[in-house]
Amino acid sequence: MSISSLQDKVAIITGCSSGIGLATTRLFLERGASVFGIDIGAQPQKLAEDFSTFTFYQTNLTESQAAEHAVAKCIGKHNRIDILVNCAGVSDGFSSADTIHDEELEKVMAINLTVPIHLMKACLPAMKEQKSGTIVNVASKASISGACSGLAYTASKHGLVGATKNVAWRFHQEGIRCNAVLPGGVPTNIASSVQMEHFDSAGFNAFFPVIQLHVSKDSEGAPVPIIGADDVARGIAFLSSDESKMINGAMIPIDNAWSTI
Ligand SMILES: NC(=O)c1ccc[n+]([C@@H]2O[C@H](COP(=O)([O-])OP(=O)(O)OC[C@H]3O[C@@H](n4cnc5c(N)ncnc54)[C@H](O)[C@@H]3O)[C@@H](O)[C@H]2O)c1
Repeated sequence: MSISSLQDKVAIITGCSSGIGLATTRLFLERGASVFGIDIGAQPQKLAEDFSTFTFYQTNLTESQAAEHAVAKCIGKHNRIDILVNCAGVSDGFSSADTIHDEELEKVMAINLTVPIHLMKACLPAMKEQKSGTIVNVASKASISGACSGLAYTASKHGLVGATKNVAWRFHQEGIRCNAVLPGGVPTNIASSVQMEHFDSAGFNAFFPVIQLHVSKDSEGAPVPIIGADDVARGIAFLSSDESKMINGAMIPIDNAWSTI
């Protein structure tokens, strides 16, 4: 049995088509889980070819009832849900309180905070009935810092750790755990989610020095992220496995000490 085995667990993973969600889905499948992957984007073709234990469900999770429908599909197929990983997310354009547009605020809050809450709500009846279940929310360094992202992303990720703690305490006597990982900068496709018409260069310039403290630099001084999607996936797998069975309500930074400042 491998470290942090997920053998025969049934996991829902959102954002499975790219970045951290894709790396997590592959790791879970390699460790024996059946994964019900959800994304607005296209199916990750290689995973579908490599693993018969992978099911893909394409939906825009911000649409009305989308979370409930997705969870019902998973239960229809597997009859249970052992693990929920809330990974789908988007970035903001570094807007501050003086520049933020409602459209960006609503989009970022909906995907990064409201959708994870809807999915937890939809999964909890099955987890309560089973008297077991593990939820991992993908938060961020921006969950504990006001100095590395825009207002919308920072508020959404602060909100997500509040939701994580609330769920952890509320259901800790029912065999259900809820934790969060707080990654540092990871090279993924998240920059493509920025609405460039709302990019705030003054905001970006205020936050960039803090980001630079964390990244490495190439020979020309350009920033190079040091945390890989696989590093975050391993943290999520640990928190999802029975190895962490007494870890509940924890915020685990995966950022090589960036969280200390
Ligand atoms: N990349 C980083 O530096 C970093 C750092 C800290 C936290 N995070 C968090 O990690 C998580 C994953 O991001 P990533 O960096 O892998 O980005 P990514 O863009 O590579 O992946 C995000 C995935 O979420 C999906 N998604 C977005 N909106 C959706 C919707 N409405 N419905 C369904 N799926 C949707 C996208 O299609 C995409 O496949 C996010 O929550 C992000 O905030 C990322």
